[in-house]
Amino acid sequence: MALLFYSSDDDPDHWRSALARHVADLDFRVWPGGLGDAAEIQFALVWQPPPGMLAGLPNLKAVFSLGAGVEHITDPPPGIPVVRLVDPVLTRGMTEYVTARVLHYFREFDHYARSQRRGQWRKRRFRLAAECRVGVMGLGVLGGDAAAALAAMGFAVAGWSATEKRSEGIEGFHGESGLVPFLERTHILVCLLPLTAETEDIVNARTLAALPRGAYLINAARGGHVDEDALLAALESGQLAGATLDVFKTEPLPAGHPFWRTASLIITPHIASLTVPSSATAVIAADIERIRDGLAPRHAVDPARGY
Ligand code: NDP
Ligand code: OXD
Repeated sequence: MALLFYSSDDDPDHWRSALARHVADLDFRVWPGGLGDAAEIQFALVWQPPPGMLAGLPNLKAVFSLGAGVEHITDPPPGIPVVRLVDPVLTRGMTEYVTARVLHYFREFDHYARSQRRGQWRKRRFRLAAECRVGVMGLGVLGGDAAAALAAMGFAVAGWSATEKRSEGIEGFHGESGLVPFLERTHILVCLLPLTAETEDIVNARTLAALPRGAYLINAARGGHVDEDALLAALESGQLAGATLDVFKTEPLPAGHPFWRTASLIITPHIASLTVPSSATAVIAADIERIRDGLAPRHAVDPARGY
């Protein structure tokens, strides 16, 4: 079975050996040099594939994303399923990142870091988690897990999704009409939406203004979700007390970008979670087997919704 691999970010050899443990007849080829006869390729496993690469594969059965997001596959061949990665290890990593960042703001580590730099011993009143309202935009695989973990820690958690959701301990908001009420009650806003035409620049001057003054933002989804000028203005004015950004419109974040000079920002280099070949290949191999058995892959993207 011939699979074509391309990643702007990963070492193909790690993927070749990890996938070979699960797929006995694997013929692993790497774009562009290792393509061989394009008509033999049945599956593609990709991160940011170059335009035109997938269109040149006439017998493709499915395209697997090396990540949970799929917007990096800009020209999926019509009628061929695009499968996003749903891997418990990836989910766990994201929940660790989000809970760490929420705890950082909730327990005011920013304040204590500033005090330390000034040589000041300044205690602050200890708040209860139940008094801290966290809002998670996107209640899918990742947002749903992070929201449940935060709710289990006692935070007052709400989630915003496209369709109505009912989860124990999580206040549900949905759709356009639910967005402003959701933001108005949220002290720490977490973005875990997919990037689509509907969610692009969703963190903008209007939505930031709907948050209570002094709120925090954690964006671990995509840089395209945030209007950068609006974010800088909200930090400058104090409407936002701080923000954590893991993802950016341009990655790596260019030298000289004003984000690097903004003290109230915490920046990480797209590591909120990472795809781990050993676990991800088990998930991908199981879907390859399903497709070869004539079944649909799990977690295929709905082309109409874009996620
Ligand atoms: P899912 O597809 O499982 O969940 C998406 C959620 O977003 C769903 O709850 C969906 O609502 C909601 N949603 C989508 N569009 C809208 C909209 N217009 N309005 C309101 N809600 C909307 O995605 P995952 O949880 O697996 O992943 C989320 C994103 O996280 C990925 O797309 C990727 O960009 C990012 N990511 C970032 C990583 C990092 O390291 N920084 C690592 C992995 C992923 P509904 O349930 O009603 O359909
Ligand atoms: C993903 C990512 O989409 O790593 O999985 O960003």
